[in-house]
This record gives sequence, structure tokens and C-alpha cells, in this order.
Amino acid sequence: MKQGQLARRVSKIAPFQVMAVLDKAKQLQANGYDVIHLEVGEPDFVAPSAVSEAGVQAIRQAQTGYTSATGLPELKQAISRYYHSRYKVSVAPERIIVTPGASGALLLMASLMVNEGEEVIMPDPCYPCNRHFLLQAGGRAKLIETSPDNEFKIDLDGLAQYWSATTAGLWLASPANPTGAVLSRAYVEQAWQAVKDLGGHLLVDEIYQGLVYDGDDFTALSVDDNLFVINSFSKYFAMTGWRLGWIVVPEWAIEGAIKLAQNLFICAPAMSQYAALHAFDEGVLTECEARRERLNQRRLALLKGLERIGLPVVTPAQGAFYVFVDVSSVTSDAMTWCLQLLEQEYVALTPGADFGIANAHQYVRFAYTCEEERLVEAIARIERFMQS
Ligand SMILES: Cc1ncc(COP(=O)(O)O)c(C=O)c1O
Repeated sequence: MKQGQLARRVSKIAPFQVMAVLDKAKQLQANGYDVIHLEVGEPDFVAPSAVSEAGVQAIRQAQTGYTSATGLPELKQAISRYYHSRYKVSVAPERIIVTPGASGALLLMASLMVNEGEEVIMPDPCYPCNRHFLLQAGGRAKLIETSPDNEFKIDLDGLAQYWSATTAGLWLASPANPTGAVLSRAYVEQAWQAVKDLGGHLLVDEIYQGLVYDGDDFTALSVDDNLFVINSFSKYFAMTGWRLGWIVVPEWAIEGAIKLAQNLFICAPAMSQYAALHAFDEGVLTECEARRERLNQRRLALLKGLERIGLPVVTPAQGAFYVFVDVSSVTSDAMTWCLQLLEQEYVALTPGADFGIANAHQYVRFAYTCEEERLVEAIARIERFMQS
């Protein structure tokens, strides 16, 4: 490698296309324009006050050093109790590894379960960073083209045809980013059976767990103790910047996961862990549920508005805070459409190309992370843009 040259893998990492939208939006805002942000993948709520207060207390009391690599024992117990009380599933605290966000958990997962040169199957579209975490571990993603007719799910009856000697596993997410689709228990059961038969691992990313408006809010952990599940405090608990998540691993993977957690991160942020001890307090959960209801109201308003202006939402959008919209009737290039919409009407959306490759230029993602009246206003602006 020559001086001043980056490692080859960096060139394989695609920058987010939405950055071009964000830069433009910032510029417009700086010039006094009223931009409606529907591109942001984080809640517009902040951490519930009991949680942030506990974080402040932790700092005041100097609870700011390293913790155990896999997380505070009392936090792991609290997460385990939460699984039991809310999802009626028994998860031993030792199987829970607390990480710096779901991002840390995904990096740990790639390092734990994927050998160099191996691939992981995942649906196209999906969360874009997954493939880059795999790249870090010397592996790669094998994106399987999906279609709106099948709610962007991989057809599991055909899974064997994508599987090869170098396939390590299958990664799914529910509720999903960017589609908001929720997997059924039957689908996860079938996925687990198929992956077991083929001899690989199954990961279900449940980072949007709890944010289900329609359908079964369950955990894949209730299907079997031998699959992997990732979760985070970022979304349901609105703690994005606190950088706290977790991974649940099978018994046989605990030792390896501990070694990786020690080496990759030492531990997750201590004050965030002390704060998160209060995330499962009754009052906090009540607040999170009230927020979920607000998100649902926004979701319904957005779906109604999109239908009115003739833009089809291509999956049932039962969870998370996203809807994935087919704009092929108005453009052949969603990215250009997003930039023009922003310049003309000051509405910021995320182009589909950030999430997939096949047919991505047909889609845009709306995040309903702003108040309902702003969503209604956004729809009116998009309608005007489409008529111009
Ligand atoms: C599906 C999915 N997984 C993982 C992440 C990473 O989240 P965090 O690291 O904030 O927990 C995100 C963030 O948007 C996501 O959408």
C-alpha cells in the first residue's frame, strides 16, 4: 500500500445518497426556507426524562468508567425481565451483550459469525450499513431482489437456490427499514427452519421493536434459542445519541461474543447504561406507548395523504416510522426527483438507492418523524410539485 492511499475496502463503501439531500436542505434552511424533514431516520422525540435524569445523575456520581464488557449485570437483567414481561419469552441475561447501539451489535455479529470470503443473504432493499459491516469482517452481502408483491420479503421456498458453500447465514429485520414491513411469526419460523436445514445462522434485527401499529409485535427469540437477535434503545426509547443497543446470542456463542465485545469496544457508554436502567420503568413505558400512538396517527395521516395524491405505498407499512413509496409513475430517477422536490417545495425525502440496488431508483422513503400538521403540509407541497 502506498503512502496516502486508503485501504481498498473504503472504495467499496457507498456514501449515503441522502447526504446530498441533507446538504441541500441545510443550505436552503440557512437561506431562510422552511424545509420539511421527512428524510431523518430518528425519532423527533428525546429520551424520556426519567432516563435522561438518570444519565445526568450517573455523570454527577462519576459512574463514568468502563463497565463489564458485556454490560452492567443489572441492565442485562432488566432487559431479560422486559423480554419476559412484554414478550413472554425467557432469555438468560448471560445471552445478552450490551453494545454501542445496534451498529455495534451488527459489527460484533459480522465478526462473530462470518468468515473471510463468506456471504450473508439479505433482502434488497434493506438497511445499507449491513453490507458494510460484513465488508469490515472480510465477508460480503448477497442481496436478493424482492418485490412489493411479496412485501419485499425473500421467498423462503427458493432460499436454497441462493445458498452456496460460502453462505454463512440470513439476516432479516422486523419491522424493516426502509419499508416499515413487519414479518409474521410464521415467516420467521419458516426462515429459521430453512436456515437450519441449510446449515447457517439466522439474525433478526429488531431495532424497531415496539413500534408496531398493525400486526404481531413479537420477538424472534420466541421461535428458538439458537438464533441471533439485535435490538437498541435508539428508536422505541428515542435514545439515538446515547449509543446503546444489544445482541442476544445462543448459549454456544456467548464466550466468543464476550471476547469480541472486549476487543471491539471494551464496553458500551457507562452513563448511557445507567440511564437505560430506567428505560423499563412503568412511567417510561407508558410514555413510549403514548408516543407510539402519536406515530400511528401520523402514519395514518401520511398514508391517507399519499393515497389522495396517487402515490402508492408499496408495503403495508405496519411498523417502524417509514413508508416506502413507488414514484415510478412520476419519474424514472427517484434521486433527481428528491432533489427537485427539495429545491422547488422544500420537502426532504430519502431516495430508494440508499437501501438497495434492484429497482431502487423507483422508490423514496418517507420518515414520519415530524408532527402531523407538517406531514399534511408536506403532502400538499408534493401534490403541487407533481402538478407543476
Ligand atoms: C435496521 C437498522 N438497524 C440498525 C440501525 C443502527 O441503529 P443504532 O446503532 O442507532 O442502534 C438502524 C438505524 O437506523 C437501522 O435502521
